[in-house]
Amino acid sequence: MKKKWWLDTVVYQIYPKSFMDTNGDGIGDLKGIIRQLDYIERLGVNVIWLNPVNRSPMRDNGYDISDYYDIDSSLGTREDMEELICEAGKRHIKILMDLVVNHVSCEHKWFQDVLQNPESPYRDYFIIRETADGNAPNNFRNYFGDSVWTRIGNSNRFYFHTFAKEQPDLNWENPLLRQEICDIILYWQSKGIAGFRIDAIGNIKKSEKILSECKVPADGEDGLANGDDYLLNQPGIGEFLGELRDKAFKPYDSMTVAEVSVPQKDLEAYIGENGFFSMVFDFSYADIDTNGIIKPCEFAPWDLKDLKHCIYQSQEDTQKVGWAAPYLENHDQPRSVNKYLPDGEIQYYSITMLGVLYFFLRGTPYIYQGQEIGMSNYPFHDIRQFNDIGALATYKRAMDAGDSEEKIMDYLRRRSRDNARTPMQWSDEPYAGFTEGSPWMPVNPNFKEINVKREEADEKSVLAFYKKMIRLRRKSEYKEAIVYGFFEGIETNEAEDFIYKRIAENQEVLVTINYASRRRPWCVERADYDILLNNYDSIESEMQPYQAVVFGKK
Ligand code: GLC
Ligand code: CA
Repeated sequence: MKKKWWLDTVVYQIYPKSFMDTNGDGIGDLKGIIRQLDYIERLGVNVIWLNPVNRSPMRDNGYDISDYYDIDSSLGTREDMEELICEAGKRHIKILMDLVVNHVSCEHKWFQDVLQNPESPYRDYFIIRETADGNAPNNFRNYFGDSVWTRIGNSNRFYFHTFAKEQPDLNWENPLLRQEICDIILYWQSKGIAGFRIDAIGNIKKSEKILSECKVPADGEDGLANGDDYLLNQPGIGEFLGELRDKAFKPYDSMTVAEVSVPQKDLEAYIGENGFFSMVFDFSYADIDTNGIIKPCEFAPWDLKDLKHCIYQSQEDTQKVGWAAPYLENHDQPRSVNKYLPDGEIQYYSITMLGVLYFFLRGTPYIYQGQEIGMSNYPFHDIRQFNDIGALATYKRAMDAGDSEEKIMDYLRRRSRDNARTPMQWSDEPYAGFTEGSPWMPVNPNFKEINVKREEADEKSVLAFYKKMIRLRRKSEYKEAIVYGFFEGIETNEAEDFIYKRIAENQEVLVTINYASRRRPWCVERADYDILLNNYDSIESEMQPYQAVVFGKK
C-alpha cells in the first residue's frame, strides 16, 4: 500500500456542543476548542474530526444543516473557524469537518423554497412524490422509527426522509445538486480543511422500490417495514461516489472517512487503491449489542468470542484491500467502558486494556472526546433528561408498541447516544469546568474523580496511558510495524485471550490481552520480545486481571 499521509494519523473526535464553553451560554463553542488546542497537542494526536458546525436548527445537533457555508451562531463564526484551522495548523494538527449531504435541514433555503413554491427551481433537489389517493406512497420506516414520507402542507405531495422529518433527503440523481455538493467540499478545502468524515453516505442512492407506490408487509405494530434493503448501498451508488472522489477530494488529496458499512464484495471499490474514500467506519463491533435487531429496546446477545471474531474478521477483510478506521466510541454510541466491560469492573486496568485492544489494530485509530479519560455513561433515570431526537423517537415507538417504561429506560440508559454527549470533564470545578453558565446537557456526577486536570497530574491515569499509546504509535522505533504492519490474529482456545501481531518487513509487534477479571496463564512465548507498553508495572508468572501488554520483537 502506498504511504498516504493519512495512514500516519491518530484522530481525536470533538463534539463541539459538549467540549468547552467560553461565553457562559452552556454550549461548547469553537473558541473553546481553540482554548483547548494545547491539551489536544499534549495528547499527541495530529487530526481533529469536528462533528457538524454549520448553521443548523440543531434538531439533530447539527446533522440538519441549513447553511453549508456558514457556522452556527451558537458555536461561533466563520472567523472562529478560520482561526481554529490556523491555530491547529501551528500545532501540526489537521481538521476534518463532518460532511452531511444525504439530507439537509427542513430550514435550508432550498427546502423552504420548495414548501412555498410548487414550481421551485429546487424541487428536483429533493425526492417528492404525489399520490392520487392522498396516502403516503408506501409504508417503509425511517431510521428514527417513523414513515420515510411526510406530507407537504395540505397537498397530496410527500417528501422522502431517511432520518427525521426535519431532515429531507437530497436527490443525488440531479446533477445540479451534485455540483452544489462538490462546490461545498471545494470551498471548505480551500479554507484549509484537510478532509471529511462523511455522514450517512451509504444512503444517497435509493432503490425504485422504496420510492414507489406499494404496500409491503409490516414488521412491527406501527404498520411500517424496515427499509434498509432499499436505501443502503444500492446499485449505482458508485457513480455518485466516484464523481465526488474525482471532482472534490482528489484535487486536495484529502482524508475521507465514510460512515457506511460496506459488504465485503464492495470493499475494494470503497477503500481500494482508487477507492471512493480513504477509509470507512465498520459497525460490526461497535454495534455488537444491537446488530440485527429491528424491534426497539431489544439487545443482541454477544460474548467475547463474538467480539474477537468481529474485530479480527473486520481487520482481515479490510487489509486485503485498504485501510481501516478502528474506534471504540463516537457521538452515536454509549461509552465503551459500559458497553464492553461488566458493571462493577470498570477501573484503570480494564479501561486501558480496552484501549490497547483497539488502538494497535491496523488502521487510523479514532478517539472520542472523554474516552481518553475513561468517561462513562450518564445515570439517566427519567425520559425528560434526554435530548437526543433518536432517544425520544425510540421511547415513543416502544411505548406505542406496549413496552414497559422500565424496559425502555433500561435500554436508553445503556444505549442512548446522549451518554456520549454530556459535557467534557475538565476539572473538579462546578460543571466540570465545562461552562460558567448552566450546561445544555447535565454533567456526569462522577466528574470529581474523572477529569482531565486530575488525570494530567497522575502518571497512572487513563489519560497518561492514552498518551503513551499515542506516542508509541506515532514516535517510536516500532512505528513501521504499528502503523503500516500487517495484522495477524492469533487464535487460542480461550475466549479471554486477545492476541494479535502487527508485522512489517523487519519488525514485529505483539499485542497480548487478558480480557478477564482473574489471573490467567500466559498464552504467548515472550522470550524474544521487549516490553513496549504495559498497563501493569511488571510482568509476573501469570497474566494479571485485564493486563494488556504490547511487545516488540528484539
Ligand atoms: C449519522 C450521524 C448521526 C445522525 C445521522 C443523521 O448517523 O452520525 O448522529 O443522527 O447521521 O444525520
Ligand atoms: Ca458557548
